[in-house]
Amino acid sequence: MRKKFRIFFFVGALGLLAFPFFMYSDHQKTFQKNTAENNRQKKTPIKNISYIHSWEKCQQNLTAANITGFSNLPQNIKDFLFYCHCRHFPMLLDLPDKCGGAEKSGDVFLLLVIKSSPANYERREVLRKTWGKERLYNGMSIRRIFISGVSGDSYEKERLNNLLKLEQQEHRDVLQWDFSDTFYNLTLKQILFLEWMERNCPNARFLLNGDDDVFAHTDNMVVYLQSLKENNGSRHLFTGHLIQNVGPIRAAGSKYFIPVQVQKSDTYPPYCGGGGFLLSGYTAMLIYRMSKSIPVLPIDDVYMGMCLAKAGLGPSSHMGVKTAGLHIPSKKVDNFSPCFYKDVLLVHRFLPAQMYLMWHSTQNPKLKCDDT
Ligand SMILES: *[C@@H]1O[C@H](CO)[C@@H](O)[C@H](O)[C@H]1NC(C)=O
Ligand SMILES: *[C@@H]1O[C@H](CO)[C@@H](O)[C@H](O)[C@H]1NC(C)=O
Ligand SMILES: *[C@@H]1O[C@H](CO)[C@@H](O)[C@H](O)[C@H]1NC(C)=O
Ligand SMILES: *[C@@H]1O[C@H](CO)[C@@H](O)[C@H](O)[C@H]1NC(C)=O
Repeated sequence: MRKKFRIFFFVGALGLLAFPFFMYSDHQKTFQKNTAENNRQKKTPIKNISYIHSWEKCQQNLTAANITGFSNLPQNIKDFLFYCHCRHFPMLLDLPDKCGGAEKSGDVFLLLVIKSSPANYERREVLRKTWGKERLYNGMSIRRIFISGVSGDSYEKERLNNLLKLEQQEHRDVLQWDFSDTFYNLTLKQILFLEWMERNCPNARFLLNGDDDVFAHTDNMVVYLQSLKENNGSRHLFTGHLIQNVGPIRAAGSKYFIPVQVQKSDTYPPYCGGGGFLLSGYTAMLIYRMSKSIPVLPIDDVYMGMCLAKAGLGPSSHMGVKTAGLHIPSKKVDNFSPCFYKDVLLVHRFLPAQMYLMWHSTQNPKLKCDDT
């Protein structure tokens, strides 16, 4: 895809800025061939290509407005219906060598894939120096990637893009695409990541996919994944906080609202809460293949469950993943005692300062806990 975009940019640079609108489709291939020809013949150097993104944008599906009851739907659902057919967006920040190239990517044992919106600078910064640190643990290589879209209007958007660009220069850990980074676009974000992975990191053994505000005990994860004797990443694994026997929330006020216009069926397949789950590289690539023929549902964790179901597989439950928070037995004890966290894999919702403190406490080899 990277090459494809380069070709698109090249065409733009050649003066086809007025090209009225180009939707990704089957014409793409012939179009590409022609431009590759042009490319070879003219060899015009391209310096700044970022300004021509707009012409290739996927078009709004105006027919969606004809769906029964459309006018009464909330704006974000309307946006979803207008744009849910768009699955390709140009990359603003790429990391083609994150895994040492597609061939060598089997050396990455645990790839941390963290959903992060552009504004969440503090969260990214604290993860970089705590559980998201790129390192070897037990001899296994851990790599980190933040996945992001764009947010904010005009100046704000420009500022946030500059922020990510600076972070990229310093840390080399951001994938950014030119789509709007909203809650209902998280599925799109996941699909774009998987597409990137297929191209650049198809053999990574395992992945942690999750939010930027969870406490993930990545040392424990490596130990757990190493203990899977029959699975080195080349077999199915998808585990986390298992959610079953639920269906779409039909209350328009809910963050998770899914009207019948988006999904008729009243049930969801089993899935793992999107705060954080572990999966094998094999399963990630399988999900990507399935996703190509499943219409987008704008709730990303449920969508993963749908892809698994289509492959005839399912998610499993891991006791150590507490995306709904940890049950602390008594109000008298410190909620943030490292002893509650030393054996978990993942817990939802930590502020950056709590994250920093907790990571350091759990790293302390002298940590004494009363194991009763
Ligand atoms: C919406 O439906 C009306 C009536 O069937 C039709 O005339 C119109 O072309 C449709 N609009 C779009 C954008 O498809
Ligand atoms: C546009 O929306 C209509 C109504 O939901 C749908 O039937 C049609 O398939 C959509 N077109 C595309 C290109 O997704
Ligand atoms: C998803 O991103 C696209 C591209 O930026 C945007 O047009 C669309 O409105 C977004 N959808 C939602 C539901 O926010
Ligand atoms: C992983 O295990 C499979 C057998 O399940 C084996 O064929 C493959 O070579 C192993 N891969 C690595 C990188 O060890």
